[in-house]
Amino acid sequence: MKLLFTEEQEMMRKMVRDFAQTEIAPFVESMEEGEFPREIIKKMAELGLMGITIPEEYGGSNMDFTSYIIAINELSKVSATVGVILSVHTSVGTNPILYFGNEEQKRKYVPKLAAGEYLGAFCLTEPSAGSDAASLKTRAVKQGDQYIINGSKVFITNGGEADTYVVFASTNPEAGSKGISAFIVEKGTPGLIIGKDEDKMGLHGSRTVQLTFEDMVVPAENLLGEEGQGFKIAMANLDVGRIGIASQSLGIAEAALEAATEYAKERVQFGKPIAAQQGVGFKLADMATGVEAAKLLVYRAANLRALGLPCGKEASMAKLYASRTAVEVTTEAIQVFGGYGYTKDYPVERYFRDAKVTEIYEGTSEIQRIVISKQLIK
Ligand code: CAA
Repeated sequence: MKLLFTEEQEMMRKMVRDFAQTEIAPFVESMEEGEFPREIIKKMAELGLMGITIPEEYGGSNMDFTSYIIAINELSKVSATVGVILSVHTSVGTNPILYFGNEEQKRKYVPKLAAGEYLGAFCLTEPSAGSDAASLKTRAVKQGDQYIINGSKVFITNGGEADTYVVFASTNPEAGSKGISAFIVEKGTPGLIIGKDEDKMGLHGSRTVQLTFEDMVVPAENLLGEEGQGFKIAMANLDVGRIGIASQSLGIAEAALEAATEYAKERVQFGKPIAAQQGVGFKLADMATGVEAAKLLVYRAANLRALGLPCGKEASMAKLYASRTAVEVTTEAIQVFGGYGYTKDYPVERYFRDAKVTEIYEGTSEIQRIVISKQLIK
């Protein structure tokens, strides 16, 4: 399979690449210090990036899925923080409302999310329900025309910054995964308590918080889809979301490969550039091969999605492989830089820290293997 992109997709790549260089690169350091990139999000919204794949009638840019994946990839080469903010906002923050919301919900929320006026978040994971998402304990009880929700969530990307949260809670605990329902919860809802902001190893500019729901009152009209449909809503959107994380992983790996190659061409030891020493040259060759293979899997999954074909298995393969590549390539990039790579004077230590979580969030590598193997034996 040859990777061929349309003129429009190439234009998207160039536009986002230029944007990332001029508007994001200067702020990488402040994000590293923990600053949430509000201004960057505003500028991304002006370019239509907060609603790339959203249809025009709901205020989006109406572009194809591959263009979205290209955007995540280019953003992540410069800042994996910005990459994950956009990925979560789009694939699990906005799309569940677009695909499972009724017309009123779609009209109320999607245009604001697509315009970047609202930022989206997704609340599935709980302290004792991570990989085993169906075992969540958060409870939603219907009282008249409201649901009263109690429980807690952890590792919520964009939490505390988001305007809408897609929250998963059980409306029927006896029914297991079939008793889970999804709700749209607005920022400022009484009983929505923003908790600890996690002090993470990487992605320092992205916000990851704990949330507590204490008798949180959500109007019944904010139920997404039907009662009991929540787990399928979560899984269906994660299927696609994983391609975004795979693309983020690819972006990190590409950035690390580029930095290591440039450094290896300049750094002279034993009388010649280290790139010309076989030990380093072979390393670069393996890194480049991994990146290329990841690229094929990422764009293959994106292409299936763009054509509206089933892509769950391919999305998981792309995420599994690209995240592992990101960890391997960033580790090797540090090795190429030697002692300098272990300092904050060069970006490779950040790439390494940012890469690790791609093997964990939106389903660990072990979960991706479960998804892939279930599809194989189905
Ligand atoms: N699409 C639609 N429906 C699906 C589905 C999918 N991809 N996968 C499962 N389902 C349905 C099944 O068909 C089944 O329904 P039926 O009985 O009617 O067929 C139901 O859901 C239950 O399926 P399983 O028995 O397979 O479910 P399970 O409990 O064994 O779990 C799992 C499957 C794949 C392990 C799932 O729990 C999972 O993906 N876990 C990982 C959770 C995860 O990815 N969390 C990420 C949090 S979000 C995040 O990280 C965002 C961020 O901040 C960056």
